[in-house]
Amino acid sequence: MFVLGIESSCDETGVALVESGASGLPRLAAHALHSQIAMHQAYGGVVPELASRDHIRRVLPLAQAVLSEAGRPLADIDVVAYTRGPGLAGALLVGAGVACALGAALGKPVLGVHHLEGHLLSPFLSADPPEFPFVALLVSGGHTQLMRVDGVGRYELLGETIDDAAGEAFDKSAKLMGLPYPGGPWLAKLAEEGDATAFKLPRPLLHSGDLDFSFAGLKTAVLTQARKLGAELEARKADLAASTQAAIVDVLLKKSLAAIERTGLDRLVVAGGVGANRALREQLDAACAKRGVRVHYPELHLCTDNGAMIAMAAAMRLQAGLGPASERYAFDVKPRWPLASLCATEPQFG
Ligand code: KG4
Ligand code: ZN
Repeated sequence: MFVLGIESSCDETGVALVESGASGLPRLAAHALHSQIAMHQAYGGVVPELASRDHIRRVLPLAQAVLSEAGRPLADIDVVAYTRGPGLAGALLVGAGVACALGAALGKPVLGVHHLEGHLLSPFLSADPPEFPFVALLVSGGHTQLMRVDGVGRYELLGETIDDAAGEAFDKSAKLMGLPYPGGPWLAKLAEEGDATAFKLPRPLLHSGDLDFSFAGLKTAVLTQARKLGAELEARKADLAASTQAAIVDVLLKKSLAAIERTGLDRLVVAGGVGANRALREQLDAACAKRGVRVHYPELHLCTDNGAMIAMAAAMRLQAGLGPASERYAFDVKPRWPLASLCATEPQFG
């Protein structure tokens, strides 16, 4: 069975084709991606209307590229999957509309996928896929969550951020330092040249006893520090970047270890854009190796948004008997959509 996946929730248009059998992990046949980062950079952040218009321009050429790379005609598609939410409403509607139009034209069912479930299951596309159950640290631009994952569609929220996400903390701190959008990778690069102990920055909720996060205070502390430095900021920017990254990574590391301890599980999956951060990977690898815990990541290029994770999540859902893929084509999108609600019995297409 071939599942075409379309991702358009934010500033990346992604399309992919996944092949799936009755058993065994689905396999990526081809994928293509267009990032809008360069377009949004002039505005210092994502402009939703521009994002939607660009998805419209990109999605069909990307789908054609994917099919031609896989050597498959349109007629071979069995299911069309798309990101139903969470994300920008207008951007989501582009993917949903195209998926349903394709499905209707081909007479094939469509399946709306949760974007975070895509991130969560993306490590199953890697050469070293995890096994259930595991603890998942989901760290994207909009979400920071720890989940217990017992199987496809079996997710228990252990803790989450009460304000900003880790990706937001990276991006907002980077913006204060005058780095381009999205700031995470730029701040991480600058941090490599800096001293992580140069500035004492807060580790919010580190000792709160629960698995929740808070990053809003860190951003304020970075701002205060930047103001204090004044004209010296330019010369100390790498130190400030390194100290900021260290604070974020420290909290993510300690809370992940606490989640592992609390659940008694011995596998950790890290997914979402911040999962590409090298310092985070190095520290998690070292701490988990000491405890006999295996850590799994998506391939580096599949950490940030892409179509492969959407096609994969759809294929794994269908394999687990959880679709249902719909032939109604009466699509909607869910800009706000808690991942844990996937475990409830609410119908996918209500
Ligand atoms: O998962 P993602 O592509 O989009 C969302 O679903 O939000 O995550 C994007 C986030 C941005 O905040 C970006 O700055 C961050 O991931 N990011 C990084 C790195 N690469 C991407 N943050 C820190 N270090 C990186 N290397
Ligand atoms: Zn994402």
